[in-house]
Amino acid sequence: MKTPRAFYQPLAIGAPTPCRDLPVRLERMIHFVPPHIEKMRAKVADLVNQVDVVLGNLEDAIPADQKVAARQGFIRMARDNEFGDTGLWTRINCLNSPWVLDDLMEIVPAVGHKLDVVMLPKVEGPWDIHYLDQLLAQLEAKASLTRPILIHAILETAEGVKNVEKIATASPRMHGMSLGPADLAASRGMKTTRVGGGHPDYAVLADADGDASRTAYQQDLWHYTVAKMVDACLSAGIKPFYGPFGDFSDPAACEAQFRNAFLMGCLGAWSLHPTQIDIAKRVFSPEPSEVRFAAKIVDAMPDGTGAVMIDGKMQDDATWKQAKVILDLARLVAA
Ligand code: GLV
Ligand code: MG
Repeated sequence: MKTPRAFYQPLAIGAPTPCRDLPVRLERMIHFVPPHIEKMRAKVADLVNQVDVVLGNLEDAIPADQKVAARQGFIRMARDNEFGDTGLWTRINCLNSPWVLDDLMEIVPAVGHKLDVVMLPKVEGPWDIHYLDQLLAQLEAKASLTRPILIHAILETAEGVKNVEKIATASPRMHGMSLGPADLAASRGMKTTRVGGGHPDYAVLADADGDASRTAYQQDLWHYTVAKMVDACLSAGIKPFYGPFGDFSDPAACEAQFRNAFLMGCLGAWSLHPTQIDIAKRVFSPEPSEVRFAAKIVDAMPDGTGAVMIDGKMQDDATWKQAKVILDLARLVAA
């Protein structure tokens, strides 16, 4: 079991969040590739220079009769490419499916040495992580792998959300977690057919003041879950992510949803379409004006203590730490 992080640890230089034992790397977008489609596999060599993480998807969106082809395609794409600083992940099938055992038994011996993270869908509790943890341990030992493969859970069932803190601390292999709004909506019985994003009917009205046509303010359907996930992840020293945004025709709404998640503490989101790569890159890198202001705070308080006024705003030890989060991320982006 991972021991809980100390109450406050200064961030390592370059670390975007206090993720103590995890590799420090940018993971602003986890780009999904359907590995059974040869045309898509052929694009991976170029993608490696554009994205922070390439993920071969074996689960939902891969038809049942293409599961074997997707698994073999992933092995091929892992073998055929050099990934450098780009992360290589796979989303395996869920634990109660007929495919998951073969996913792991074939992928780990073949390309486990190149694989950074296994994304596990529909995680309901720590027992799912324990099972995968042991299975990976057996397969790694058999393949004489020296670097542990990490686990990333998708938070996409009501039961999973209920157990989110136990999932976050279930294994030292835990890399992080992504919100899965589509499955979560179904699991909760939410009345939407969208993949992430808002809904025009989830709104509050401005005060009436005798005005019958008053403004409706749309709310963020995912606020509660993202907040709960961020707290569970950060208190366990692992990384939180927003998941997919399914309406490719509405880049502005995608950007707004990603930005909410970024401001709430998430480090990245999934990109399911090439246009979402740049959106995620823009959103999950800090704004230059924020970086400039953060630098002013750190310059004004070199040892991180005391209180100063900058542009009329009070700064103290706490805002110094906020500034440090932004500057550390900016440094990582610039590296
Ligand atoms: C992702 O897997 C989702 O269900 O939203
Ligand atoms: Mg899902």
